[in-house]
Amino acid sequence: MDTNIYHSLVKLNTLGVDVNCDQLIHACDRKQIVEACLNATCDKVPLLVLGGGSNIVLTTNFEGTVVVIGSKGIIVTEDATAYRLVVEAGENWHDLVVFCLENKMPGLENLALIPGSVGAAPIQNIGAYGADFAQYCDWVEYLDLETGLCQRLNASECLFGYRDSIFKQALKQRAVILSVGLSLDKQWNPNLSYGPLREFKRESVSPQMVFDCICTTRQQKLPDPKVLGNVGSFFKNPIISLEQYEALQQQYPDIVGYVINEREVKLAAGWLIERSGFKGMTHGGAAVHLNQALVLINKSHATGYDVCQLARHIIAKIRNHFMVTLEVEPRIFGATGQKEINDA
Ligand code: EPU
Repeated sequence: MDTNIYHSLVKLNTLGVDVNCDQLIHACDRKQIVEACLNATCDKVPLLVLGGGSNIVLTTNFEGTVVVIGSKGIIVTEDATAYRLVVEAGENWHDLVVFCLENKMPGLENLALIPGSVGAAPIQNIGAYGADFAQYCDWVEYLDLETGLCQRLNASECLFGYRDSIFKQALKQRAVILSVGLSLDKQWNPNLSYGPLREFKRESVSPQMVFDCICTTRQQKLPDPKVLGNVGSFFKNPIISLEQYEALQQQYPDIVGYVINEREVKLAAGWLIERSGFKGMTHGGAAVHLNQALVLINKSHATGYDVCQLARHIIAKIRNHFMVTLEVEPRIFGATGQKEINDA
């Protein structure tokens, strides 16, 4: 275990916010993770667990212990129909996608280039281009900070939803994910439902072609966090009633929405934000990305507070304009723990 005396978190969050913490621990295996997290909990020291730091906004210095999850390992077994993977939380998500592709275990390509670690993937049920983590998940193992026990939930118990899971709800602040179990069908069934993938023909498409297409599409729209700090989509696409959607359509015929069922429609928040004139708008060091209005960026030395103020401004304007309430996707942390956007 590496307990760091240099406590900067700037390289540990993809938004690139420059804040410190009281104690920084790099935990390299499961034993170290459990020990570090339970020590902080027993001593009643505020605890922040970081994977890739790609879905977190730090608004100020953290007055507690930050544990960086660095456990590595991928174990593959197979049965007649599927490859079963046990993956430690500290593995990088995109590296896992590449590992699977290189070892002829396709399935995850639609989720290529999503920043962050494997342990963070179940929390917000990462998703893109018609696929999400839940589709491949068998189980999730976590440390319960209240009982000190390691627990395993099967996929249905994780209550996965659109960018949602039990780890953002009932187990919020209580679970530290240690490993996940994934299942990849041996019979590859490409998911070609989304935009640019529709050009492919099922008979001739290969996993590598899907992977390359996803990487190109993401690189065109989404800023590389190594170049421009960001946390991916800052807002969820809001789900509204069909009646409200039809009323909005009357007023804004080009509004973008996807009918989910006979009662509900998911709106493209990027469209709402762009239509409200926010594209490129800056606040302090934060800005709305020019290529994709759903992404807030660290344009120049932004603080987490700049980013949250810009987000609050967007939420208020969208509510006034469209009577739609945007929900924030990343987790927001203050000095001693998680906060809601209105209190950040
Ligand atoms: N749009 C605009 N202006 C914008 C952005 C989008 O008008 O500035 C409209 C466009 O019409 C576009 C539509 O919104 O066709 C949808 O945009 P896009 O296809 O880029 O997807 P999204 O809904 O903005 C979601 C996920 C992304 C994921 C993509 C692709 C959420 C909150 N975001 O974005 O996930 O990569 O679909 O599947 O669901 C993330 O969660 O961090 C993330 C990047």
